[in-house]
Order: sequence, then structure tokens, then C-alpha cells
Amino acid sequence: MSVGGGVNGGVSAGVRIDVFTIFPDVVTGYCAASILGRAAQAGVLDVRVHDLRSGADDSRRSVDDSPFGGGAGMVLMAEPLFRCVEAVQDLPRPLYLLTPGGRRFDQGVAAELAGRGPGNGFSLLCGRYEGVDQRVEDHLVDGELSVGDYVLAGGELAALVVIEAVARLLPGVLGNEDSAIDDSFSEGLLEYPQYTRPAEYRGWAVPEVLRSGDHSAVARWRRTEALLRTAERRPDLLERLVSASALSASDVQTLAEHGYDVPSGAERSEPG
Ligand code: ADE
Repeated sequence: MSVGGGVNGGVSAGVRIDVFTIFPDVVTGYCAASILGRAAQAGVLDVRVHDLRSGADDSRRSVDDSPFGGGAGMVLMAEPLFRCVEAVQDLPRPLYLLTPGGRRFDQGVAAELAGRGPGNGFSLLCGRYEGVDQRVEDHLVDGELSVGDYVLAGGELAALVVIEAVARLLPGVLGNEDSAIDDSFSEGLLEYPQYTRPAEYRGWAVPEVLRSGDHSAVARWRRTEALLRTAERRPDLLERLVSASALSASDVQTLAEHGYDVPSGAERSEPG
């Protein structure tokens, strides 16, 4: 099942992402909609979805069995997973297993995967039930990814999170190339507040500076809001920027003016 394949006569110049799942319709349906659908139509993204049950060899198309040693739940079996994955020609690697125990997926990992460029896709294997036979982790996949410290019923939603976060970083996917650059996290800061019409709603006015037409004042206001928001809501992110000396002297001054002390010497030496 292909969402983006078929464009350019089946040979896509886009980033290919193969997904292995027992819910192919869920993954295909989401990838055909909205931004991912447009990216596929434009030939930027080529998502190919494979039904793990195609690797089953019994009439019930079983892919799971009870765990050796006992215990609750079912475990995805090695054999149908190996068979399904190994049947795919030119599978883009690395192949990642989606599991809560994997490497934490964040904007940096998204940028890493998007930055590998066309012709350098990757693949995602959605775990399910109580787990996956260890031999799949040991001998079939190249790595593991987690979308956060919580347990989902399976890897499908996690795979969609990865695909969408990566896809919107690919050139040509977002209408405005600047939108990904301004995103929360792209610079390690949360995004500044956004407003649109009307200028006043129920007595709540849009900050005057945003209507002033003074572009440098708007840029300063946005930077300040992003810094303060991050300091207030995600001090861990700010801490990371401080350790990397990624704040400018004026960022440090802005924070100090609002009562957030940054250790001296933490700012970048070059002008920010
Ligand atoms: N499967 C179940 N929970 C998950 C998570 N948090 N991340 C990735 N895959 C998962």
C-alpha cells in the first residue's frame, strides 16, 4: 500500500518511509490527508505501508503468541515480522522499532532524519501488544524510537508522529519555508504567541507592537516572549541553551531584566 509511490511513474524522488503495521489502513488514511497527503502528491514524500499479517503463514494470519515463561498478553512473533520486512525490495534503512524503551524522538531527531535528503529514507516497525520478540530487536531493526514516556497500545500513533514531524521539515512541504524555522524547538525555544484578526475580541486586544508595522520592534518582542515563555514553562530547554552557550548577550540581558539570572559567560561571544 503506497501513499506517495505512484507519483513519477512509481519512482519517487521524495524521501521514502516504509511502515510495517497490523493496522495499515490507519497509517495509510492519515498519511493521505492534509499536509502529508500534499507532500506525497508533490513527490516530496513516499510513504509505503506494509501489513505485518502478510508475513503470517497460517489461515488466521496470526502475528502474535503468548510469551515464553508465562505472563499476561501477547507478543509479536519474530517469524512473520522478519518475513514481511525481508520481502520488501530496497527497504530504506535504518529500520526503527517504535517502542517506549527507544531513543527519545524530539525535534533534533526529526531534523536528523529529514536532513538525510531524498534517496535516504528510513523505515518504521510498529510494535504492538505487550511487546515484540527480542530477536526482532536484536537482529532485524537498526534502532528504536520512543515518542515519550508513556505507553501507547501500539506504535502506529508514534510512527505517525515521526512521519509528520519529519515531513514538515522537508523542503517544499510547508507553504512558507520560514514556518518550520520559527517553530517551537527549532532554535531550542518555545514559540512566541501568535494573533490574527480581529485586533480586539471580547475586550482582549492584540499587543500594540504587533500592529505597529515596526518590524524590528516586532522581532524584539517575539524574541523576548519566546525567551520568557521558555524560562517559565520549560526551564530545562533554557538550561540546555545556556550549557551550549547558545544565547546572545541581549538574550541574557532580556532574561535578567525579567528576573531570570543566567550564569555569566553563558552567552555567545559573537553578536546575536
Ligand atoms: N509504543 C507504545 N508506546 C510507545 C511510545 N511511547 N513511543 C513509541 N512507540 C510506542
